[in-house]
Amino acid sequence: MKILVINGPSINMLGVREPNIYGSKTYDDLCSLVEEECKKKGVLVDFFQSNHEGDIVDIILNSYKKTDAIIINPAAYTHTSIAIADALNAVSIPYVEVHISDVSKREEYRQISFIRENAVATVMGEGISGYVTALNILLKGR
Ligand code: DQA
Repeated sequence: MKILVINGPSINMLGVREPNIYGSKTYDDLCSLVEEECKKKGVLVDFFQSNHEGDIVDIILNSYKKTDAIIINPAAYTHTSIAIADALNAVSIPYVEVHISDVSKREEYRQISFIRENAVATVMGEGISGYVTALNILLKGR
C-alpha cells in the first residue's frame, strides 16, 4: 500500500500561520506524525506540498498507477479549484479530503469544496491528527 499526502498553499507555514486557527504544530510535525503512523501500519508514504495549483494538478496526474490512495488538503484551492477536482477524478485514485480547521464553522466562502463530492470522506477540525484519521479511513476500505 502506497499513499501520497498532498498539501496546498501555506500549509508549509503551519505553526507560524494563524496558530489560533491552525495550531502550533509545524508542517514537519505533520509529516513526522503521518510517517510514524504509516511505518507502524506497513504503508509506504510520500509527501508533497506546493503553493501552486498547477504543481498540485501535476503531482496528482503523475501519481496515476503509482499510488493506491491520496490524502489531500488543497487549502484555499479547495474552494476555488476545478482543475484539482478534475485531476483527482481523472486518475480515479481514492482520496480523503482533510482540513486542519473546522471549515464548516468558518466563512461562507469556505463552504464550497470542489473535491468533496467524490472523496471517500472529509475530515476537518482535528488539527494535524486529521491526517491520521484519513489514513485509518483509507486502510479500513482495504
Ligand atoms: C484549510 C482551510 C482552508 O479554508 C484554508 O484556505 C487553508 C487551510 C485547513 O486545513 O483548515 O489554507 O484547508
